[in-house]
This record gives sequence, structure tokens and C-alpha cells, in this order.
Amino acid sequence: IPVDPFDLVIFGGSGDLARRKILPALFRRFRAGQMPRGARIVGAGRRDLGRDGYRAVVVEALRDHAGEAAQDKAALGEFLDAVDYATLDAAGTRGWDGLAARLGPDRVRAFYFSVGPDLFGPLAERIRRHDLAGPETRVVVEKPFGRDLATARALNATLAAYFEEGQIYRIDHYLGKETVQNLMAVRFGNMLFEPLWNSQYVDHIQITVAETVGVGGRGEYYDHAGAMRDMMQNHLMQLLCLIAMEPPAKFDPDAVRDEKLKVIRALDPVLPHHIVRGQYDAATGAPGYREEAGDPRSTTESYVALRAHVSNWRWAGTPFYLRTGKRLVARSSVINVMFKDAPHSIFGAEAGRHANVLSIRLQPNEGITLKVTIKEPGPGGMRLVDVPLDMSFAEALGPDSHEATDAYERLIMDVIRGNQTLFMRDDEVEAAWAWTDPVIAGWQGRGDVPKPYESFSTGPGDAELLMKRDGRRWQGIK
Ligand code: BG6
Repeated sequence: IPVDPFDLVIFGGSGDLARRKILPALFRRFRAGQMPRGARIVGAGRRDLGRDGYRAVVVEALRDHAGEAAQDKAALGEFLDAVDYATLDAAGTRGWDGLAARLGPDRVRAFYFSVGPDLFGPLAERIRRHDLAGPETRVVVEKPFGRDLATARALNATLAAYFEEGQIYRIDHYLGKETVQNLMAVRFGNMLFEPLWNSQYVDHIQITVAETVGVGGRGEYYDHAGAMRDMMQNHLMQLLCLIAMEPPAKFDPDAVRDEKLKVIRALDPVLPHHIVRGQYDAATGAPGYREEAGDPRSTTESYVALRAHVSNWRWAGTPFYLRTGKRLVARSSVINVMFKDAPHSIFGAEAGRHANVLSIRLQPNEGITLKVTIKEPGPGGMRLVDVPLDMSFAEALGPDSHEATDAYERLIMDVIRGNQTLFMRDDEVEAAWAWTDPVIAGWQGRGDVPKPYESFSTGPGDAELLMKRDGRRWQGIK
């Protein structure tokens, strides 16, 4: 279903994010017939590219990042007709009238701040000063949304000086992933799971976001962030919220975000001995973290594992183990809901212990597996085995059903439609920082140095100990 005509202005229009994510996402939506005729995409930046120069940037971006879709010459030509460019000074006066002249009346206007947070304030102020904002105006901002509670508050205050909260779309691209949304469908669309979804039946929950890539060329940004700020405060926290939250009364932006906020606010502070930091070593052909970060003494973590507690009626006594790291053995994001053992085994001790596991795979090979216990076939008596009830979304629903729609496609279209459900609210971001800050302050106070781990391994051994001490084990990463 096409959305209403819109103007989308991308500040930082030829930057890395625009080229890798925003422009390819728009092109794919255009090909899918969702971008209506008359919609306009206006790149904006300091460089004096002109419309043709910017169109060349777009062509290159699509060639590099839009896969086979970029071969569709007819679509590409039509898409480019919708692309324009405005040279402007984000923090000055130059070019703003030119931008105004490119925007149409009476339509949705989205301003994508694909720039550093230091420019959020100047951009917001100029959009107002030049009267570019109307009632159907939205601004989109990306992470990192601050580096601690104080900076996040300051950013929120800056944006709030110019826009209503209902106009501000803070992106966490994990919320745009198909399976992440499916989590809500699975939990709240079925009778089967919700009655068991609590500490009475769930022993613990594991959330793993493992990457094989290192920090590569992003060392400068990353070394000031680390895995705690880069991944845990946002992506893993969002997954935790969706797993742990109470059912919202309806699938509506504030109803969902209210419930997520309650989860974050119910989190206990993380105890120092419930957290493990790691930093990857070099491997053959792959430099170590410190080399990539350009600081031989860096104490920034590229891996973090921790045990979190949601202290509320539903989850008291059920720990959440969260881990994320770069340069691990496989790229794999998965949530494992580990159920308790049956209270009594009628098959005797030799049948062993068997517990159900519900695995929700976010990427790759999106799908859901439920490990159930059955009798081993054959005449050998009552021996039990665990078998997976496996549902791959690609197999069940067709190959186009999964990962075909990139998170950015969905999120950008939601901005145009004015649906904030999958975007973070100001109070949510601040609460997540309020939980993260003491962890980082603790490391700094103790002069903590992350544990080295082998590249392409499962991470530092201490993360295994974190589990072992509790009589538990991580599920495999692959
Ligand atoms: C980004 C982080 O937000 O998410 C990166 O800044 C990380 O460090 C990326 O690599 C992971 O995203 P995805 O979609 O590849 O899992």
C-alpha cells in the first residue's frame, strides 16, 4: 500500500549511513510500489554537489549497497527523478532558502538527521527559523543517542525545544528487524506461551548478539563507546524489553513503550561480579582490537556479558543473561528462553534431565525452534531424547518473507506513516542510560581492564564462568 506523498530531507545525504542504509532502503520501497509518485528525496550537505552530482552519489550507493535491485535501470531512472539536492550549512545561514524552495506544501516532511549529535541542535533551530516545519513534520535521529544519561538528557532537551515528542523518531534498527517484531506476535498472538512466560516456569533467559566482524574502520568512534554503549544500552536492552514486558493493552506506540519503560525501570543495578568484559586479540590475517582502535593501551571492551534481573512480580528469581561481542565465532543473534525441568521425572534418574528451550533466531536464518523431549524410537526401553520443533520463516512462509525487508525500509516507512511504535521514546532512552551509567562508572573507578579473548572464539572464558557459577551454560553460538 503506497504511503501519502512526502518530502524526505536527508542531512548528511552523502554520508556513510545514507549510502549504506537510507538510500538503498528508499529505492527498495520505491520498487515495491510503496513510494508514491510526487514523493521527493532531498539530500542536503555542505558539499556543492548539485542535483546531478548527488544523483551520481545515489547511483553509486545503490550499485554498492542495493544488491541486484540496482540492475533495474527503468526503476533507477524513475527513482532518480525524485532525487534532489540542497547545498547548505547546517550551522550557518547558507542554503536554507534553497532547501525551502525544494519542499512541497501540505505534505509529510521528514528530516533525517544523519549527522553527528552536535548538529541536532543547530539543524532543529534552523528548521524552525526558516519555517520549514508544519504539523506533519517529523525528525529522525540515529544512535548513538548520547553517551550517558547527562548527554542523552541534553539531546532530548535540545530536540524538545523545537519539536513535540510525537514528532521525534529515535531509531534503534533492531526494532525494525522482522523477527524482533515477530517476538511480540509470538508472545501475544498465541495462547501457548504467555501462561508459561514467568519465573515459575522459566529458569532463565539468554540473549546473544554475536558478530564476526571487528571494529574495522570505525575504531575512532568505537573506542569511545565500547560494547556496553554501542550494543547493550540499546539493541540488547530493547530485546530484553520485548521479552520481559507485560502485554500492552493494544499495539499502539505509547502502550508498547510504556510497558518497555517499566521493564527498564525494574532492572536492578548490575553487580560487578555479574559482568564480564572482553577485548579481541589478533588472529592470522586479522588485527587485534587495539591495533584496529589505533590505541595500543585501549581498555575499551569489544565484548560484554552480564546477568541482569528484572525485579518485578513476573520475573523475580529468573535471571537474564545478555552477551554481545565482535570477532566471535559466528554471526548469530538469538534469544533462548530456558524453561525449568519438569518437577518430577517418572522415568527415573537414568532418563536424565530434560528442559524445554524456545529459541528465537533473529539472524541469520530467522525462525523459532522449540526443543521438546520425546521417546527415542526403538525397542530399547524408555529412553528420552530432545528434538527440535523447528520453524524456519524462510521455509514456512517463503524465501521473501524474511530479511527481504531491511529494518530501515520498515522504519523509514513508519516515519512517513507517523507510527512511533518501533521508535524509542525520550524516557526509555534515559532509563536505559540510567541503568548503563553505573556499570561504566564502576569500570572506570576500578581501572578495569577487559579480558583478552581469541578472535573467532566464543569470547572470554570468564563469561562461561559467569554461567557455571550459577549451574548453567550458554547455548552454542552457531
Ligand atoms: C550497530 C552497531 O548499531 O549495530 C555496530 O553500532 C553493530 O557496532 C551493528 O555492528 C550490528 O547490526 P546488525 O544489524 O548487523 O546486527
